[in-house]
Amino acid sequence: MNLKNNLTLGIESTAHTWSVGIVEFSGKVLSLVNDMFIPEKGGIHPILVKEQHLSNFMQIINKALDDASISIKEIDLIAFSKSPGLGPILKIGAHVARMLSQLLGIPIVAVNHCIAHIEIGRFLSKIEDPLTLYVSGGNTIVSAYESGRYQIFGETLDIPIGNLIDSFARDVGIPHPGGPKVEALARESDNYLHLPYVVKGMDLSFSGLYSAAKRLIESKDYENKYTLYDVANSLQETAFAMLTEVTERALAHTGKSEILLTGGVAANKRLQEMIKYISREHAVRFEVVPLKYAGDNGAMIAWTGILRYKSIGGNNISETQINPKERMDQITIPWRS
Ligand code: ATP
Ligand code: FE2
Repeated sequence: MNLKNNLTLGIESTAHTWSVGIVEFSGKVLSLVNDMFIPEKGGIHPILVKEQHLSNFMQIINKALDDASISIKEIDLIAFSKSPGLGPILKIGAHVARMLSQLLGIPIVAVNHCIAHIEIGRFLSKIEDPLTLYVSGGNTIVSAYESGRYQIFGETLDIPIGNLIDSFARDVGIPHPGGPKVEALARESDNYLHLPYVVKGMDLSFSGLYSAAKRLIESKDYENKYTLYDVANSLQETAFAMLTEVTERALAHTGKSEILLTGGVAANKRLQEMIKYISREHAVRFEVVPLKYAGDNGAMIAWTGILRYKSIGGNNISETQINPKERMDQITIPWRS
């Protein structure tokens, strides 16, 4: 295959966001356009998200092409997120990607979304071999590259950290995504209320913490003896201390000399501060994925597609089926071996 322009179109479609990134093989991002589903109330309803993505997908692709000042015929490679995520949403990305690949007669790469969060962080932060804390609405994973894979050293046993914060936010009337607003509330308080801190071995459990925080805002003492600012602060302090403890232990276990913080929750300044603190204690380098690329985005999918393509080529169409539950430690990483 003669790749004329070395341009990849990456499609992110695992949950709330339909995103298209156009990235050169060198890693230069030419354009990135996001279309995020924001529920009027409640959580993310897959049927409503699907409707939005189906209505807008071509418009977003065209906007990304326009922003990059290229025509679709100049694209050499299609990459899309095949896992993990919500089945009906993953399917839209897979169908559009397969259609474009066949229509244009160009290769396709099926990408694991979690690995893409790590790879974009590694690339943009110029970090070689980090221990990674990947924290988002759907995932809470401490991982590092070992024996050809991104091995998982610690993870949540129940709800993910972003989901914990978003659910708490919803309970107090803050619309999705609640993360940035809970962070702003927490900044206004130094008062710590006791909440359950649950670390089991290297894994974390946030569901008891969620229930306890909910009880605090339903209590007769709420807005009497303590405020929403205090509960938000206590929730963050407890959850982030748990994440920091597991990250620190994984650092000692793996002996890595760099830490990367990635995923949507990586935007949180208090979490960054806590991880930075342990990095200093252990004299290791600490990097946070640039904010624009912390959440779900098509550029990270394109870049991971490029890494795979440059190393072993594209996927056969039979390998492009979606896999809503795929774990990232199931996947071999040819570009790092
Ligand atoms: P994944 O599929 O990787 O689990 P996701 O669908 O949750 O990703 P992301 O965009 O990676 O999407 O992450 C979104 C999450 O990040 C939401 O839970 C949101 O509340 C959280 N978030 C965003 N900014 C902040 C912040 N400043 N503090 C805490 N959480 C934040
Ligand atoms: Fe994500």
